[in-house]
Amino acid sequence: MTNTLVIVAHPRLAEGSRINKKLVEAVASIEGVTVRDLYRTYPDERIDPEAEQRLLEAHERIVLQFPFWWYSSPHLLKKWTDEVLTYGWAYGPGGDKLRGKSLGLAVSTGGAESAFQAGGYNQYTMSELTRPFQATASLVGMTFRPIFSVHGSMLCDDETLSRRAAEYAAYVTAERETAIHA
Ligand SMILES: Cc1cc2nc3c(=O)[nH]c(=O)nc-3n(C[C@H](O)[C@H](O)[C@H](O)COP(=O)(O)O)c2cc1C
Repeated sequence: MTNTLVIVAHPRLAEGSRINKKLVEAVASIEGVTVRDLYRTYPDERIDPEAEQRLLEAHERIVLQFPFWWYSSPHLLKKWTDEVLTYGWAYGPGGDKLRGKSLGLAVSTGGAESAFQAGGYNQYTMSELTRPFQATASLVGMTFRPIFSVHGSMLCDDETLSRRAAEYAAYVTAERETAIHA
């Protein structure tokens, strides 16, 4: 079984989230899955890079889970990236600690799926809009997995959300990083 670390970045996960809260609930008690709630772990936003690096080292599969905010993640995940993926650890001489691991993204959006395409409300696809994550994975030697998205958060009824949450659990625990038949 692949050890999986789910890093969640939502500033109001407990009291202000519907989608991400449900996704976390779907994976939190799965054996071999560790959920790291960044905003709860660091209410003062002072990240402990070494603690984060030890956690990353202990897991083979990493999933970054967040609501899409202005075409990116809430800011603490960017701070986490800046402070944890250090020279000599993630890249540069001796910086091979993430090499061979996989990186997945689990992103919720307000926009409907159809908004994320050329000519749509957001003009670009999720694959295009998440290029910095893909480039980062490539630079540090991680395999980038297909993105798990829950689109149209306002229109997502409870039944759809429950189904997507179950599919998220399958994404997090999948035997392969990339499904041959999706
Ligand atoms: C500051 C902010 C920026 C947002 N930017 C976007 C965006 O760029 N694209 C989009 O589709 N939705 C955007 N949204 C909507 C959120 O993605 C949506 O509310 C969230 O994914 C719902 O998940 P939650 O219930 O876990 O909060 C934004 C919301 C906020 C508060």
